Amino acid sequence: MNLQHVLYAVADRIATVTVNRPDKLNALNDAVMADIGAAMAAAKADPAVGVVVLTGAGEKAFVAGADIGELAKQTVIGGKEKSLRGQAVLDLIENLGKPVLAAVNGYAFGGGLELALACHLRYAAATAKVGLPECGLAIIPGYGGTQRLPRIVGRGRALEMILTGGSVDAATAKAWGLVNDVFEPAELQAKVRAVATQLLTRGPLAMAMALEAVLRGTSTSQEEGLRIECDLFGIVSSTADMREGLNAFLEKRKPVYRGA
Ligand code: COA
Repeated sequence: MNLQHVLYAVADRIATVTVNRPDKLNALNDAVMADIGAAMAAAKADPAVGVVVLTGAGEKAFVAGADIGELAKQTVIGGKEKSLRGQAVLDLIENLGKPVLAAVNGYAFGGGLELALACHLRYAAATAKVGLPECGLAIIPGYGGTQRLPRIVGRGRALEMILTGGSVDAATAKAWGLVNDVFEPAELQAKVRAVATQLLTRGPLAMAMALEAVLRGTSTSQEEGLRIECDLFGIVSSTADMREGLNAFLEKRKPVYRGA
């Protein structure tokens, strides 16, 4: 895998994907997005990876948005295609089948916040700021922000963020449920790694099915979602891991899961 703008490292079953363009605050041009997609595809395909952490290089930014220089050259058709390409990368993250944790180490504006919204859990440095400034540039969020944000914080807060473009500090983001927790900047990566390590002790297939149930269920009716849940509950009941998990509890020992 030849990545120019993203660092990819696997250690202790955790893949870390670091957007690495700090001189431009990790702004997302097409090449950066392609590298994020390639790194995420590698993490998905690698059975040695159980959890993925996505973060940004440097002290200041997670990702300061789509590359405004590249956007400035955009045409109508090109804009739609760019949005579709970006959405495909974020859909890949959301549907990775393994937990993806965003370590929001600084600014997450525009496409940067949208990238974090596609992750399953979000943790922010106390100094982080998030927002969707697009309307101020006379564009709209194009990497899923108009869809994922209202599903996470509700329509009222999402519209406030999208229409005003105001930036939201980490404490407010936590109060809104936009991030799961906030840590001191120097502690962020270790804290996120601790969450990732804890997730590695859980049944991997069960987590994949739980992710699928929640993701598919929250974009359909409750009735349909409940059908999805019971079907997946049935499938998970056929796994060796389920028998191991239940037997380990009964035998008062730690389970050993094999993802089967
Ligand atoms: N696209 C392209 N370049 C960007 C960028 C973006 N979204 N965000 C930052 N950069 C570049 C800056 O142009 C600057 O490059 P330069 O040194 O070659 O001039 C470099 O990153 C550092 O940014 P700078 O603005 O000097 O840092 P700052 O600390 O003063 O401000 C921000 C930080 C995040 C407040 C500011 O960079 C900003 O508002 N960025 C745009 C955010 C945005 O609107 N994102 C949504 C885009 S749709």
